[in-house]
Amino acid sequence: MVNRTADDIREAVSAAYGARAREVAAGEGSGCCGPQAAPDQKSKFYSSVEAADLPETAVSYGCGNPTAIAGLAAGETVLDLGSGAGLDCFLSARQVGPEGHVIGLDMTDDMLALAEQNKAKLGVTNVEFRKGVMEAMPVADQSVDVIISNCVINLSPDKPAVFREAFRVLRPGGRLHVSDVVLLHPLSEAEQQDLNLWAGCISGALQRDSYAAGLAAAGFTDIEIELAQDGKQTPWRSALINARRPDGAAPARPWLRAAATERIELLAPAGLATAACCSTDGEDGNRCC
Ligand SMILES: C[S@@+](CC[C@H](N)C(=O)[O-])C[C@H]1O[C@@H](n2cnc3c(N)ncnc32)[C@H](O)[C@@H]1O
Repeated sequence: MVNRTADDIREAVSAAYGARAREVAAGEGSGCCGPQAAPDQKSKFYSSVEAADLPETAVSYGCGNPTAIAGLAAGETVLDLGSGAGLDCFLSARQVGPEGHVIGLDMTDDMLALAEQNKAKLGVTNVEFRKGVMEAMPVADQSVDVIISNCVINLSPDKPAVFREAFRVLRPGGRLHVSDVVLLHPLSEAEQQDLNLWAGCISGALQRDSYAAGLAAAGFTDIEIELAQDGKQTPWRSALINARRPDGAAPARPWLRAAATERIELLAPAGLATAACCSTDGEDGNRCC
């Protein structure tokens, strides 16, 4: 079995999401991979009020809604790891207002271009998109109040670096609010090496204890990981994750609860032991979360 390098993984992930961004920008629908594509997840995880007035091309490839649990306040600086088409950035921008600032970080050129297009359609001025990887964020130390992320940290081949970087850029007392996929049990070796499953947000997912341990090792406290109960016999769940960079002050207010925990629905290609993930469009096919 070939062992995938970090570069192999990032290239496969970027190629998959770049293809999706190009399709959306070209008006070819909101999903990937042809007729069996996973749809835009917006209607599943966001209320019609939140989604109102957003361009159709501000699609969601997420597995939850981190903006629902972030408790954003006017004037805060927010960093969205793997910002995709920009949806969570635009929702955060409304919440932090004109005095606040939102940075969307993504490594994929075509996704950044789509996000810029959406920003222009909306005419927002308190959002900027930066190119970079979350394992080495182009963001100054202690410059961010809140980190959000939606179905992205699982895609990283180096989670300890992501957690270290997240801690570095947060101000003391800063918060991390993330939607992500977590595994209930380990995958087979073959599944862990499958690049389509990586891009589909499965192969790189951590188990809950490892997720919490990784955050704690980076220095985070008040770590909470809540799994969606989807009643499915799949080895993964959508999860909402909260953590804080401590500041030595008295315990902070409790974390917000999402109004409803939604289920993640991934389509299963035939033949996988785990029945994991969604459709492909061929041997090197792209994959949808
Ligand atoms: C599953 S999509 C989620 C996009 C967005 N958060 C949403 O909810 O629609 C993953 C996004 O993360 C980006 N991404 C994946 N790995 C990354 C990394 N290591 N650093 C920066 N961006 C990354 C991809 O380019 C893609 O746009």
